[in-house]
Amino acid sequence: NLPKEFGRTNPRVGGSLDAWSSMAVYALTGFSLVSLLSFGYLSWDWMKPSLVTDVSMEKSLSSSFSRSPHIIFILTDDQGYHDIGYHGSDIQTPMLDRLAAEGVKLENYYIQPICTPSRSQLITGRYQIHTGLQHSIIRPRQPNCLPLDQVTLPQKLQEAGYSTHMVGKWHLGFYKKECLPTRRGFDTFLGSLTGNVDYYTYDNCDGPGVCGYDLHEGENVAWDQSGKYSTLLYAQRVSKILATHNPKEPIFIYVAFQAVHTPLQSPKEYIYRYRSMGNVARRKYAAMVTCMDEAVRNITWALKKYGYYDNSVVVFSTDNGGQTFSGGSNWPLRGRKGTYWEGGVRGIGFVHSPLLKRKRRTSRALVHITDWYPTLVALAGGNVSEAEGLDGYNVWPAISEGKESPRTEILHNIDPLYNHAKHGSLEGGFGIWNTAVQASIRVREWKLLTGDPGYSDWIPPQMLTNFRRLTDSVRKSVWLFNITADPYERDDLSEQRPDVVRALLKRLVYYNRTAIPVRYPAENPRAHPDLNGGAWGPWASEEDAEDWEGGGGLLKNKNKKKKCKICK
Ligand SMILES: *[C@@H]1O[C@H](CO)[C@@H](O)[C@H](O)[C@H]1NC(C)=O
Ligand SMILES: *[C@@H]1O[C@H](CO)[C@@H](O)[C@H](O)[C@H]1NC(C)=O
Ligand SMILES: *[C@@H]1O[C@H](CO)[C@@H](O)[C@H](O)[C@H]1NC(C)=O
Ligand SMILES: *[C@@H]1O[C@H](CO)[C@@H](O)[C@H](O)[C@H]1NC(C)=O
Repeated sequence: NLPKEFGRTNPRVGGSLDAWSSMAVYALTGFSLVSLLSFGYLSWDWMKPSLVTDVSMEKSLSSSFSRSPHIIFILTDDQGYHDIGYHGSDIQTPMLDRLAAEGVKLENYYIQPICTPSRSQLITGRYQIHTGLQHSIIRPRQPNCLPLDQVTLPQKLQEAGYSTHMVGKWHLGFYKKECLPTRRGFDTFLGSLTGNVDYYTYDNCDGPGVCGYDLHEGENVAWDQSGKYSTLLYAQRVSKILATHNPKEPIFIYVAFQAVHTPLQSPKEYIYRYRSMGNVARRKYAAMVTCMDEAVRNITWALKKYGYYDNSVVVFSTDNGGQTFSGGSNWPLRGRKGTYWEGGVRGIGFVHSPLLKRKRRTSRALVHITDWYPTLVALAGGNVSEAEGLDGYNVWPAISEGKESPRTEILHNIDPLYNHAKHGSLEGGFGIWNTAVQASIRVREWKLLTGDPGYSDWIPPQMLTNFRRLTDSVRKSVWLFNITADPYERDDLSEQRPDVVRALLKRLVYYNRTAIPVRYPAENPRAHPDLNGGAWGPWASEEDAEDWEGGGGLLKNKNKKKKCKICK
C-alpha cells in the first residue's frame, strides 16, 4: 500500500476555524484596548495614535524597556523543519504562520538533535560538553539530572523579579527532589518528568512492564488531572496562570508541549481535515500539529485578554528535527531527529513581539538554542556576567533590529560515547582528531561532521515510510559542507578543501579541551514506578543518591563518594 503523494492532497482549511480566529482577534483588539487602558499599558505601535492620550503615550514610550517584558517561551517536541505552514508544509498552522509573519522568522536557527540536550542548552545557555550531558538523553531510570551547580534561566529570571512557571515536558532528570523543576527555578510546574507519556493517561513505559504515571503538579503526582489531552490541558493551564497573575508584574512561562512527540494521538476533530492523507502516521501527526497551533492561538488570546500582550515577547522553537518514521518531515533537509545532519539540528523558530523594532521579516542571523539564556536574561534586565562562561550570545539586537549576529560558530556536539565510526581514525583527522568520534561543528558557512552522524538520507514527504539507504556514508568519517551554498548537504567538500577540514578539526580540539566528563550512569532498579507508588518521580534520597551517581564522570561531591558503601 503505497502512501499517497502528500503534495497532491490539499486538505481544505476549516472555514469556520479561520473565521472564528480572525473574529476573535478583532474582538480582542477592542477588549484589550479597554483592559490595557485601565492598566495604563498602552503601547504606541499597537494602537492607532489617535486613540492614545498624551499621558499614556509618554508613559509607554519612556517605560517600554524599563518594564521587564513578559516572556512566553513555547517549545514543541519533534516538530520537523517541514512541519510548519510557512515552510511549505502540507500541515496547517495558521496561527503560527501569522505570529511568525508579524514577527521575525529565524531561518538560520539551530537546536540540538534530541530532547534532553536541547532542553539542557536552553535552560543553561551552555553546550552539552559543559554540562556533562553530551551523550543521549536522560533515561527514566538513570540517577542523573541537569547538574545542580548549573544556574538556570528561570533562576536568573527569578532574580530579576520574574514570576516563573513551567507547563509541560521537563526531561532534565528527576531521580532526587533537588532535580525537579520547582527546585531549578520554577515557582510552579504542571507537566511530566520523562520523555514520552501518553497524551491522555500520562502513563509512560520504559520497556516492557516498567510503566508509571507521569503528570505532576509542583512536587506532587497529579493523579486527578489525567484524561485530558495534554495539548489542551497545558494551554488551559497557561491561560489560568495568565488570568490569575497581575500583568504589571513580569512573568516567564516556559510552555514545553509534549506535542508532537510520539505516541501519535490526537483528538478526532483535528484528524478529520487530514482524512485524505494516505500515510496514517502523518495524518495523525498533522492533526497533533494543528491542535498545538490552536493551543498557541489560545495562549495568544489569553495574553491579549488579560493585558500582557503589549509588553510580551513570545519565542517559538522546536526542540529537534522531526522523526520521519512517526510522521515528521524535515524535507528538503538531510537526516532526521537524532542526527547531526541539518534535518536533525536546523530548527523552526520565530519571535513574535510588539517590542521588536523591525517586524515582519526573516532573519538569517546565526542563532543557537543556547542564545536564549543570555538574550532573555538581558531582556529581563538581569545580569549575565562573562564569568559565567556561557556558550550563548545575546542575539536580541540581531533579532529585533537586524544587526549582525555576534555568533559565528556553533559546536553542535562532541559525543565520545556514541558508537565509533568503523572507518574513522586519528590519521584520518591529520593526527589531531580521531574521526571515529561523533562530532560536528559549524564555523561561519562551513560545517564539519566526523564519526557517524546518524541516518544520512533525504526523505521526501511522500516517501515517509519508504526509506532508501545511501551507500556514500559507509566508508566515510569526515564531511565538509558550505551550508550557505548547500543547506541540503549534497556536496561534500572534504576532499577538495583539506585546509578547511584541518582548521575545523582544530576548533574541535579546542572545544574538546574544555569538555567535562560525560554523565551517563547505569540505570537503577530503585527507579521502578512499582516501588514509588505507581508513578515516575524522585526515588533517591539526598544521601543514597551519591551512591548511585557513582562510577566515572561526576566531578562533584568527590569527598562524599569516598564514604559510599555500594560503589566500592
Ligand atoms: C482553545 O480554546 C477553545 C475555547 O475555549 C477550546 O474549545 C479549545 O479546546 C482550545 N484548544 C486548545 C488546543 O487548547
Ligand atoms: C553584574 O554582575 C557583575 C559580576 O557579578 C557585577 O560586577 C555587576 O555589578 C552586575 N551588574 C548589575 C547591573 O547588577
Ligand atoms: C577529547 O579529550 C579527551 C580528554 O582529554 C581525550 O581523551 C579524547 O581523546 C579527545 N577526543 C578526541 C577525538 O581527540
Ligand atoms: C559558501 O557559499 C556562499 C554562497 O554561495 C559563498 O558566497 C561563499 O563564498 C562560500 N564560501 C566559501 C569559503 O567558499
